[in-house]
Amino acid sequence: MADSIDKLQVSITKRYGGKVVLDHLPLEVRGREFVTFLGPSGCGKSTALGIIAGLVLASDGEMHLNGRRIDDIPPEKRGFGMVFQNYALFPHLTVFGNVAFGLELQNRPAAEIRQRVQEMLGLVRLAGYEDRYPGQLSGGQQQRVAIARALVLHPRLMLFDEPLSNLDAKLRVEMRAEIKQLHARLGLTSIYVTHDQAEALSLSDRIVVLREGVLMQVGTPQDIHDRPKNVFVADFMGFRNFFDVTLGPEAGGVIEGTFRGLALQAKAREGYHPGEDAVLAIRPEDVRLGRPADGANALRGKVELVEYLGREQEAEISLDGGARLWVRSLEKLSPGDTLDLTLPADKLVLLRRE
Ligand SMILES: Nc1ncnc2c1ncn2[C@@H]1O[C@H](COP(=O)(O)OP(=O)(O)OP(=O)(O)O)[C@@H](O)[C@H]1O
Ligand SMILES: [Mg+2]
Repeated sequence: MADSIDKLQVSITKRYGGKVVLDHLPLEVRGREFVTFLGPSGCGKSTALGIIAGLVLASDGEMHLNGRRIDDIPPEKRGFGMVFQNYALFPHLTVFGNVAFGLELQNRPAAEIRQRVQEMLGLVRLAGYEDRYPGQLSGGQQQRVAIARALVLHPRLMLFDEPLSNLDAKLRVEMRAEIKQLHARLGLTSIYVTHDQAEALSLSDRIVVLREGVLMQVGTPQDIHDRPKNVFVADFMGFRNFFDVTLGPEAGGVIEGTFRGLALQAKAREGYHPGEDAVLAIRPEDVRLGRPADGANALRGKVELVEYLGREQEAEISLDGGARLWVRSLEKLSPGDTLDLTLPADKLVLLRRE
């Protein structure tokens, strides 16, 4: 790769009219890192990517690449590659023509163009498709052409904006693996935008979670998955059960939270103290069926509703005392069943009340 990246530092604000859509977004990307912007529709992911690409003007802030300001460098001079959701191929050019386009603009010798295009088409598994037109390709093939078109220019940074969201579920998973492999094999530095948590978890070295233009959490996939910092991140990452508790005494790394008179034991977390209001969250797949050996965190309830997920099912339980709980189970559950349940203390995550 030409001119590799050592470090990209970004601190940007964007306003449209009076509305702040990115609020001092801080970001540092290191060479060879795969960083993902994750968040719901409208949270500012594409705007952030567009500003980094130079396609959208920031209202405030700065960007530095390897210590040098790049805000004033036009997009085509930044040396970044971009792949969009809608492929954006040139319909009147063949696959070869699409991939060769940028090299031809650079007036590269024909032999070099031919060689680099062939090599790139091989990498994205499209050797033999040179003479087809985009209209004669599947969505996944078109997206591979778009990726090859960007990569053939040896970009020092790859920017992906939801590149897989127009593909069907199976292809999405395949292409996700291909992107990850290309990233590693070519030593790329990549920023990737998605609203799909599974995609973010599987691809990223680090994930940046955004909500309405505000950074909610940055961390490794494990951090974000296991140790969400707040209710928003937890909810977005698949925690489905939230209990408002008042915290009680803490001992030996375990803190007690009282929920409607029921004392729950949870793993203590820095910054949370006895007497405070807080939230305890748990994923449906972490709730255990059956009674606990030591009697701690035992619940009882009745199955109200069952969602069939294929291998597993997710059931909504009405607990004695009236609260609701979602449980995932391999065992077949039916509405009306009465169940004993356990909330393992080490799976209950302590969060701030919002
Ligand atoms: N050109 C524009 N003019 C005015 N508002 C805009 C413009 N582009 C984006 N916005 C607003 O900025 C906010 C962030 O938009 P953005 O496209 O970055 O969201 P996103 O996270 O990429 O969402 P999605 O997942 O739907 O693509 C939204 O509220 C959007 O309506
Ligand atoms: Mg977007």
